[in-house]
Amino acid sequence: MKTFVLKLATVLAFGSVLVGGMAYGQMTAKPYAEGVVSDSGAIQLPENFRTDYVMLGAWSVAGDADTGGGVGLHVVYAPRSAVDGYRKTGSFPDGTVLVKELFNGKTESLTTGEATSATTTAGYFVMVKDTKGRFPDNALWGDGWGWSFFNADNTKQTVTTDFRAECLACHEPARSSDLVYSYAYPVLQK
Ligand code: HEC
Repeated sequence: MKTFVLKLATVLAFGSVLVGGMAYGQMTAKPYAEGVVSDSGAIQLPENFRTDYVMLGAWSVAGDADTGGGVGLHVVYAPRSAVDGYRKTGSFPDGTVLVKELFNGKTESLTTGEATSATTTAGYFVMVKDTKGRFPDNALWGDGWGWSFFNADNTKQTVTTDFRAECLACHEPARSSDLVYSYAYPVLQK
């Protein structure tokens, strides 16, 4: 009787470790692109990306001759974990969020020469890496990414309706680097 009780106790204890382990595993399974992608695949701009993400790089947008210099800046950001993943494997991990912020610019004569700095935000482009084809019927998803543009005054609701019509053709030149202009982002280079 005594050994039976002991055995039973052992089985119970082992069982609770197993159950506990499963619950722990489920608790720690990370949701996909949390806070950015809804269950139906709607994308919103990640909050606090300017402080929480790292900057991949920036593009200076030259104006015509009569604008006297740069007219804007595009600044591109990603989570540090995405940068770490890319530097290890050479590709963006599933769930990577890329943000391109469009800044209007002011060009002035400084001690360095003619220089352009960021002023107001004109809008945001967001791409979210999806290696699993999660939203096959959603026109904002395909070719390995989710795609959305946001006007500066509404970062929760995209104005993009179809990435194939509104994004893809312009990103085709970067097809060999997963549709991202990654050569311009120094932190991704080893
Ligand atoms: C007129 C062409 C054009 C269109 C349309 C366009 N893109 Fe881009 N996109 C570019 C180019 C070129 C770059 C890199 C150079 C730059 O920003 O000036 C870029 C960069 C980006 C980046 C930064 C990462 C990268 O690929 O280098 C994101 C994010 C992005 N675009 C998202 C989008 C989304 C989402 C759409 C559709 C809603 C879109 N783009 C539509 C041309 C375009």
